[in-house]
Amino acid sequence: MSAELSLTYDGADLDKDDVVLRTESLKKSFGGLTATDDVSIAVERGSITGMIGPNGAGKSTLFNLISGFYELDSGSVYVNDTEVSGMKPYEIARSGLMRTFQTPRRLEGMTVREAMLVGPQGQSGESILPLFFGGSKVRTEETANLEDAQRMLERFEIDHLANAPSTELSGGQLKLVEMARAMMAEPDVLLLDEPVAGVNPTLAKKLAGFIEELNEEGQTFLIIEHDMSFIMRIADPIIVLDQGRVLMEDTPETVRSDERVIEAYLGGSP
Ligand SMILES: Nc1ncnc2c1ncn2[C@@H]1O[C@H](COP(=O)(O)OP(=O)(O)OP(=O)(O)O)[C@@H](O)[C@H]1O
Ligand SMILES: [Mg+2]
Repeated sequence: MSAELSLTYDGADLDKDDVVLRTESLKKSFGGLTATDDVSIAVERGSITGMIGPNGAGKSTLFNLISGFYELDSGSVYVNDTEVSGMKPYEIARSGLMRTFQTPRRLEGMTVREAMLVGPQGQSGESILPLFFGGSKVRTEETANLEDAQRMLERFEIDHLANAPSTELSGGQLKLVEMARAMMAEPDVLLLDEPVAGVNPTLAKKLAGFIEELNEEGQTFLIIEHDMSFIMRIADPIIVLDQGRVLMEDTPETVRSDERVIEAYLGGSP
């Protein structure tokens, strides 16, 4: 097999080492509805790759397929060139992929600090706190985790919320906690599903800054977002999904003025 992959973006050929995440012909139907229709994408290591598309285009479904929350009808997913199709979310997390949710889950009964200590297994919604606090982990590891959590909370400027019950956070704060928590696993690629939906403009600007800063340090992102000024400012390339398919992938400038993209959005409005 060739080490070169042909990508739609700029017709660029990327070496497999440059690709952190790749999907091949993903398909998913719900009853008679095809939510994901032959989706092949590649995310370049070190990029902030954006994903846009009208409501119901299949963006979140694609994230759910990639991260193992939905079972694939067909197709394959590769993280760091290792096939992860069919794996459980926590196994995919261990392979280097973390994701946040469009609607962040509140971790009932946990403070922000405790929520931060739920490892990648927490991706599947299962609590592994008993593992952390039940004595099965050595103390030094617990201390290291606590220090990592503190550092990450400081980095996202939410360390003042460490002792707050996660149920008492605002939507925006919860988005920050989710992102900080996902970063605890030191993922090779972090998938964010609408990180600034419902977030006030000031916090959205701050979040863009955090993402850019992390990216400058080498963190790769794949970000779904409806807020065009946000995504066009931070992401390149941008993948456009429409009716379960990849409509195009290009620079923000080209995507913004493409007639098919404008049509997809206008066609979707009442
Ligand atoms: N678990 C499910 N069961 C049945 N249908 C589903 C399920 N998940 C998604 N769908 C359907 O798949 C289609 C794509 O939904 P999806 O949530 O992926 O869209 P989206 O692009 O994320 O939209 P939005 O921008 O509104 O978040 C929709 O028609 C949706 O109703
Ligand atoms: Mg969605």
